[in-house]
Amino acid sequence: MMGRSIRIMLPIFLLLLVENGRGVKSASNYLIGLGSYDITGPAADVNMMGYANMDQTASGIHFRLRARAFVVAEPQGKRIVFVNLDACMASQLVTIKVLERLKARYGDLYTENNVAISGIHTHAGPGGYLQYVVYLVTSLGFVRQSFDALVDGIEQSIIQAHDNLRTGSIYVNKGELLDAGVNRSPSAYLNNPAAERSKYKYDVDKDMTLLKFVDDEWGPVGSFNWFATHGTSMSRTNSLISGDNKGASARFMEDWFEQTNGGSISTDVSKINKIPRRISSIIPLAKDTHHELLELAASFDSSSGKSTIKFTSLAKRVRSALRQTEMPAFVSAFCQTNCGDVSPNVLGAFCLDTGLPCDFNHSTCGGKNELCYGRGPGYPDEFESTRIIGERQFRKAVELFNAASEQLNGKIDYRHTFVDFSKLDVTIPKEGGGTNVVKTCPAAMGFAFAAGTTDGPGAFDFKQGDDSGNAFWRLVRNVLKTPGKEQNDCQHPKPILLDTGEMKQPYDWAPSILPVQILRIGQLVILSVPGEFTTMAGRRLRDAVKTVLTSGDTKEFGSNVHVVIAGLTNTYSQYVTTFEEYQIQRYEGASTLYGPHTLSGYIQEFKKLAAALISGQSVESGPQPPDLLNKQISLLTPVVMDATPLGVNFGDVSLDVPKNSTFKRGDNVTVVFWSACPRNDLMTEGTFALVEILKGKDSWRPAYDDDDFCLRFIWSRPAKLSTRSHATIQWIIPQTAASGVYRIRHFGAAKSLLGSIKHFTGASSGFVVA
Ligand SMILES: *[C@@H]1O[C@H](CO)[C@@H](O)[C@H](O)[C@H]1NC(C)=O
Ligand SMILES: *[C@@H]1O[C@H](CO)[C@@H](O)[C@H](O)[C@H]1NC(C)=O
Ligand SMILES: *[C@@H]1O[C@H](CO)[C@@H](O)[C@H](O)[C@H]1NC(C)=O
Repeated sequence: MMGRSIRIMLPIFLLLLVENGRGVKSASNYLIGLGSYDITGPAADVNMMGYANMDQTASGIHFRLRARAFVVAEPQGKRIVFVNLDACMASQLVTIKVLERLKARYGDLYTENNVAISGIHTHAGPGGYLQYVVYLVTSLGFVRQSFDALVDGIEQSIIQAHDNLRTGSIYVNKGELLDAGVNRSPSAYLNNPAAERSKYKYDVDKDMTLLKFVDDEWGPVGSFNWFATHGTSMSRTNSLISGDNKGASARFMEDWFEQTNGGSISTDVSKINKIPRRISSIIPLAKDTHHELLELAASFDSSSGKSTIKFTSLAKRVRSALRQTEMPAFVSAFCQTNCGDVSPNVLGAFCLDTGLPCDFNHSTCGGKNELCYGRGPGYPDEFESTRIIGERQFRKAVELFNAASEQLNGKIDYRHTFVDFSKLDVTIPKEGGGTNVVKTCPAAMGFAFAAGTTDGPGAFDFKQGDDSGNAFWRLVRNVLKTPGKEQNDCQHPKPILLDTGEMKQPYDWAPSILPVQILRIGQLVILSVPGEFTTMAGRRLRDAVKTVLTSGDTKEFGSNVHVVIAGLTNTYSQYVTTFEEYQIQRYEGASTLYGPHTLSGYIQEFKKLAAALISGQSVESGPQPPDLLNKQISLLTPVVMDATPLGVNFGDVSLDVPKNSTFKRGDNVTVVFWSACPRNDLMTEGTFALVEILKGKDSWRPAYDDDDFCLRFIWSRPAKLSTRSHATIQWIIPQTAASGVYRIRHFGAAKSLLGSIKHFTGASSGFVVA
């Protein structure tokens, strides 16, 4: 597959080099391809990943989650893949299975060495897709549907990016975004040396680094950027699936690109005629949609050969399918970096009872952590906070995108190794000269972990020996281990709550073998880290790598090298603080698994990778992490069956809009349908909710779907074990909505007692937007 695309691309590449020789145009030095695919997963019953709150289970969708990927290759040279997930974090097991699929499809083209899979850290996506016990407690163990949605979606996004490879250029730009993150553990940050702190203006990193991908023929095709702020604009009680602030930014930027490009597309009539079949598979069961688009296509003048379709009031999936007749959709990803101590709740943390700021050193209210909450800029509306923090990142990214002028030039390269962090010898400088050898420790979580953070107090609402907790907890808690003296000393001053690194029953509770990876595109270097580095920890790592890269004899890198950290990448191992922050043992220090020298271990190993990169040497692949798929325990009960009351069908409206009603922009239109469990069909690349606009006498065209920020799909059961359920669809009419007659539709799938799945749909009455 690759061979063919290179044969096609090579003549174009050479031509551009010749042109460049005459000073006509700068060389397009890479092959670039982008892709994007739905990874939303199960929108009901599954615990959400991030807050470790047992009560936070999914029950609907605010907007869908995606995997967004880029592939960059040197023509006939090396290549790298970077995938950004609207998920809380990467998972070792997901990475292992994606790599197996890539191997089956492409041989040795994509391996653990040159593929990075990174999570944005939304706390509003379905959990249960990690392989170590401690990350599966609140989700009642492993959740196959969450896992499959990720593995499938990542694979699809990479296939698209691979198939889209064409000659193009990449530009890098960097700028400050001041109001999208604050330090949520400033008392720990303050324990870093004063001399070090004085080098920085802020106690969090404010830089956004952006890549702009430009296709030689088509122009801009996408952008990826890295900026540090937690995905905790949505709270620990939210139950709608959401990409949180970064997922929102990505939506806003992809929409922005479409709009600034005229909101229309010119395409061959013959290509339009091919669309409708695809649309009907994109929006499930939308037979009238299929019909409508056939009409739409037929209505264009075929004599000129080209037609222009304007995108007014067309749902995102339809627009995207239309655009893809000509070129791939624009892909914009907002990636996570050293967000460990960075909160998007920028107004500060306050006590729910008194309204006063929480205790500075402990984030408590009257000595208790449960009442201390960070406030986002939309307080008390978490959707509004998500929108605002999303919009701030989106606007900065657009500014950097429009002004990007520094072109990436030079080699594509990479290094990857696995390191056993449970017993790593780390050589650190000794005070007064010389060096010391210290050790990392088996993973352990401190007591402050249970207290949570100001973004979500009281993570894991159960304790050692506690009789409460869910079925999975009751199953695994008997193996809780009391740490020995050696472990206590090694982890000092961390008071150990869960000695996860020494708990192996029924299978490993925490990772010990971690991947570290460097990806290089010319003068840009990406450091893939399997955790959440705090601000200062990230700065130390970047500086150490930069020093190695710019100081070698070989002048591989000039003084101009951009180093970004890709956080939560390839696997997950919680937090990494500095040695000094670790001493304070706030949540981030308590969650730094391998003891006080964890960061020094990373710096040591990354320096080795950087040195190998500039000297052209290879590195050992290291010990392989385990594949625990066959050991996974799943206690989440499947859907038994769905039912409706006598005389009612699935999809029937149970609460309609008032007859002949008229709404204004900004109004809230709410319709309730009889529904069935969304786990029966995830509607991947489809939609549960759809707003349609009337065109002509009786033909409806899709206008807004699950991907739109203005539309919410809320699913509920009247009681826990009930077979009946409702879908409440809320549409806040956007200011940009066209005037006209609308209706709201719901798509779903119901399970019969014998297990067969039957799709259904329903529609509200029409209403006017004026
Ligand atoms: C926080 O703790 C430090 C060290 O114990 C102490 O000096 C400082 O006064 C405390 N700050 C507040 C606001 O309580
Ligand atoms: C709705 O409006 C139509 C057309 O104006 C009218 O014929 C119909 O009777 C109205 N229905 C109700 C329930 O008011
Ligand atoms: C829309 O209206 C419903 C029903 O009145 C209400 O429960 C819901 O909170 C409203 N949604 C928004 C986003 O205002």
